[in-house]
Amino acid sequence: MLTHDAHGAVLGGVALEGIFRSGAAETPAYVYDLDAMIESARALARGFGGARHLIAYAVKANSAGPVVRALGQAGCGAEVVSGGELAVALASGIGPNRILYSGVGKTDRELAQAIGAGDRGIAAIQMESVGEIARVEARAAALGRRARVSLRVNPSVEAETHAGVATGHDEAKFGVARGDLPAAFEAIGRSPHLELVGLSGHIGSQLTQTDEYLAAAEVLLGTAAWRRAELPSLSFLDFGGGYGIDYGAGCPAAPADFAAAVARLVERSALSGIEIVVEPGRSLVAAHGVLCASVIDAKRSTTEAGELRWLIIDAGMNDLVRPAMYGARHRIEPMDRAPAPSAPRWRVVGPVCESSDDFGAHPFEAAPARVVIRDAGAYGFTMASEYNGRGLPAEVFLRGGRVVAVSEGGSVERWVARRIGIREREM
Ligand code: LLP
Repeated sequence: MLTHDAHGAVLGGVALEGIFRSGAAETPAYVYDLDAMIESARALARGFGGARHLIAYAVKANSAGPVVRALGQAGCGAEVVSGGELAVALASGIGPNRILYSGVGKTDRELAQAIGAGDRGIAAIQMESVGEIARVEARAAALGRRARVSLRVNPSVEAETHAGVATGHDEAKFGVARGDLPAAFEAIGRSPHLELVGLSGHIGSQLTQTDEYLAAAEVLLGTAAWRRAELPSLSFLDFGGGYGIDYGAGCPAAPADFAAAVARLVERSALSGIEIVVEPGRSLVAAHGVLCASVIDAKRSTTEAGELRWLIIDAGMNDLVRPAMYGARHRIEPMDRAPAPSAPRWRVVGPVCESSDDFGAHPFEAAPARVVIRDAGAYGFTMASEYNGRGLPAEVFLRGGRVVAVSEGGSVERWVARRIGIREREM
């Protein structure tokens, strides 16, 4: 979590100004506190009490090697959604037995990668449709392996969150609709190449209370009871991720509250003692990463409505797309002093040529040299692009109160070389 001392913003015991003054990195740069991420995973684990569980970290939130390795060392498994993420998880030391693979559009090549990993393939490939069951079966047969699969149930639960990240309702593309479950169970049951080891669900992201999560969990437990005979190898229930964080507007439920609630529910059910899997991404990493930017210009516009103040920074929507994409609000503070909540508001905007490249209005006594964008450790760098010919941002990793790794990001020179390096064949 970002704090402040007399010198300004501090993350993981490191004064952020020092990183940029010393030239250890250049803005725009993400800075991550690995110790705090590990502590988040431990706090979530404590929420389960004595219940058997696996925290499968959703790599899409932050796929940087140091982050995945740190969470893996803290006991997490991984939830992945592409062959690329699967490769990162494996290379980061997370064993295939602790990896689950979700997503509606896994290609044959990605399926083969998952089925072929380690001695027995990954812990489970999550089936998102009846058609996918046939594809996995064909790949498993071709590889001469039995693939462990789980059935991702669409629980038909409306989550109270941004429409773009709600995934468990009837109109969502995700999971097998309840009406199609009998066909899915039959297709898996018929196949000698598939072993149904789990049931899973995920209703959406940035959930701020546990009600809907528990409603979806009840659907999974109900499904398990209903199809009991077809689940001889059931070894886990995966309730998904989605635990929200406090971006400044509050978040009543903490991640450990979700864990405790679901553990209680399972404990009271016929499946008491079964392994509980959860797939948190954001809640483990978001608050422990910030995006640091330099101020390029403090612009004032004289309009009929009065004077507008703009703080134009060197980070844009290509570096952090959440405000432009979801209307998300990330608090922005000066780097070299404490925030002044009642100071005049400046509209903080990036250099990208779109009006949606706008991080909202934030208080500053005067234009600072550098700013810190809070809570950017999840869905920040992983969603970054090179739009407008901008290189990808740098990343700085902190552990034990010091910088332990720096990734320079993508340079503009490399971007230029790649664009002009596309050569037409001679005709
Ligand atoms: N499991 C599945 C199947 C998911 O689709 C997701 C997120 C997660 C787990 C992890 O959810 P989390 O614990 O991080 O909420 N880009 C958006 C968030 C997209 C979430 C996509 N799926 C944002 O910036 O808010």
